[in-house]
Amino acid sequence: MESILKITNLTVSYAAGFGRKKLAVDNLNLEVAKGEIFGLLGPNGAGKTTVIKAIIGLLYPQGGEISLFGSTPPTVVDRGKIGYLPEVSTYYWFLTPEELLKMYGKICRMDKSELLQRIDYVLNLVDLTNEKKQLIRTFSKGMQQRLGLAQALLHNPEFLVLDEPFSGLDPIGRVKVRKVLKELKKENKTILLSSHELSEAELICDHICVMNNGKILKTGAMEELIGEKGQESLERYFLSVIGGGA
Ligand SMILES: Nc1ncnc2c1ncn2[C@@H]1O[C@H](COP(=O)(O)OP(=O)(O)OP(=O)(O)O)[C@@H](O)[C@H]1O
Ligand SMILES: [Mg+2]
Repeated sequence: MESILKITNLTVSYAAGFGRKKLAVDNLNLEVAKGEIFGLLGPNGAGKTTVIKAIIGLLYPQGGEISLFGSTPPTVVDRGKIGYLPEVSTYYWFLTPEELLKMYGKICRMDKSELLQRIDYVLNLVDLTNEKKQLIRTFSKGMQQRLGLAQALLHNPEFLVLDEPFSGLDPIGRVKVRKVLKELKKENKTILLSSHELSEAELICDHICVMNNGKILKTGAMEELIGEKGQESLERYFLSVIGGGA
């Protein structure tokens, strides 16, 4: 198995005021293999976004190691092979998708003609071709979310790290994004996503881990895990692991 991401003993805590600390990720271990879709699942506050930010390099962990594409710690070149969809995307409202993506492409130092082709390609992929020249401030939440996915895919990254990719999408939008992720998997891209949409995660993830309070409670192949507890759906499995709900 070729490993794209390996996290060893990751520990992250935040300053929580009055000199106190909040342990958000507690000695966490996780591995993502090339070509798979890996789902990071857990209730609100479990630590999913914190793990993702540590992978991207947006925060500095107090302990542990992160290895990307086999290098520890990851280099700028390694991190450049990641496409990242943040949990909350903020855009310049006065730009159009085309202008925004041109700006991101320039930041990534993409070749100009390649950039123009990629802009058309990714906007088509997320079904925003007709809105290419429309101001982003007129976009609905779901359109903004799909634009976020387009920017994550712009530089044709090897590894997609998507924080809640289905958030704010209607059923049609969810189907579209699911199709895009399946296409990427066919291209042998690797995807790590966090999600509360367990029915979506069930349809696309090869491997999952269920985390809570900064720790992984369960990890493994989707089918094996659901079968292990004799549950008929990921949602029921999730609730049985977390110990909540029906
Ligand atoms: N900047 C911060 N400062 C202090 N505490 C934080 C900060 N960001 C997150 N936390 C805390 O760390 C814990 C993990 O938060 P995180 O955002 O990683 O959870 P999550 O699993 O992504 O939740 P959600 O499903 O709501 O997005 C929570 O208890 C949260 O309150
Ligand atoms: Mg989060």
